[in-house]
Amino acid sequence: MKKISLIIVGFGVIGAGFARILHEKKDYLRDLGLEYKVVAVCEKEGSIISDEGIDLGDVLRLADGKKLAQHSGWTKKKSMQVLDEVKADIVLELTPGDVKRGEPGYGHIKKALSGGMHVVTSNKSPIALHYGELKRLAEENNLKLRYEAAVGGAIPLLNLRDKCLKINEIKSVYGILNGTTNYVLSKMVEEGISLENALDEARELGIAESDPSYDIDGLDTALKVVILANNLLGRDVSFEDIRVQGIRDITSEAVQLAIKHGYVIKLIGDVGRGEVSPRLIPVEHPLNVSGSLNAVLLDSDVAGELTLIGYGAGARQTASSIFSDLTEVTQFV
Ligand code: HSE
Repeated sequence: MKKISLIIVGFGVIGAGFARILHEKKDYLRDLGLEYKVVAVCEKEGSIISDEGIDLGDVLRLADGKKLAQHSGWTKKKSMQVLDEVKADIVLELTPGDVKRGEPGYGHIKKALSGGMHVVTSNKSPIALHYGELKRLAEENNLKLRYEAAVGGAIPLLNLRDKCLKINEIKSVYGILNGTTNYVLSKMVEEGISLENALDEARELGIAESDPSYDIDGLDTALKVVILANNLLGRDVSFEDIRVQGIRDITSEAVQLAIKHGYVIKLIGDVGRGEVSPRLIPVEHPLNVSGSLNAVLLDSDVAGELTLIGYGAGARQTASSIFSDLTEVTQFV
């Protein structure tokens, strides 16, 4: 049995969602010869630490009642101190990011890599804003830094490229990369509700960013475009290079008029052109997917065109991609 120790940083929708699947799949992972032990869970106000391993069932029950601080292993130590003091094989950085500086994830990832720990993250901001530096830091320390869950939720894009499309030169990538705006635009068409009401629903579903203007104003999509440009197209792109227009000004009248003429309005991230904008998509087009789905069209020189459709947001769906990275990185522990 291979034993792997983990630190989970961030225990909101994504962190708790990951922990739930880890708990649920414990026996399945054991059958694969993998035993993951969580030695610390960090959230904003403090952390739970246990060298013997934390019972995730207990933590999840407490988290559901917002009573994490009642755990016997609770301390007021914040994540940066925990990453200094507690050693683990892999750090799961699952906090929400801030679009200006990439914090707190940026600091967490640097601290983990400098401390000799591999990193798997769902946090797009630090990867989009500090890609070169973090990649170099991982390489210099001979460690892995993986971020499949940062783009497209459950859709395998980065690992698909690494594993299955190795021989391909990716020529273009574009599509719907934000579940919240797709949910909002779909609801405006299907139920005739306003952007504001549809956004409230998306927030209740836990798919919107902590600051939902990141979704609506296209910033979340722009971060994903940067990550895909640097990773899939091998470019050296910064967030400032992306032209961004969100869906804030799209009215119910506009979506209804579009549908009358056989089109839907979708927020499209065009990776090759470095652009995020609402576009008219024919109703029959493969990118016309509904609800919180994402859809990505990827064109490459050998495989040709691929369309990938899947849930781009949500705790379980994101956990699927986190696990794809986690099991990959586990080979290097
Ligand atoms: N708020 C994001 C979305 C979450 O709606 O796609 C996943 O990145």
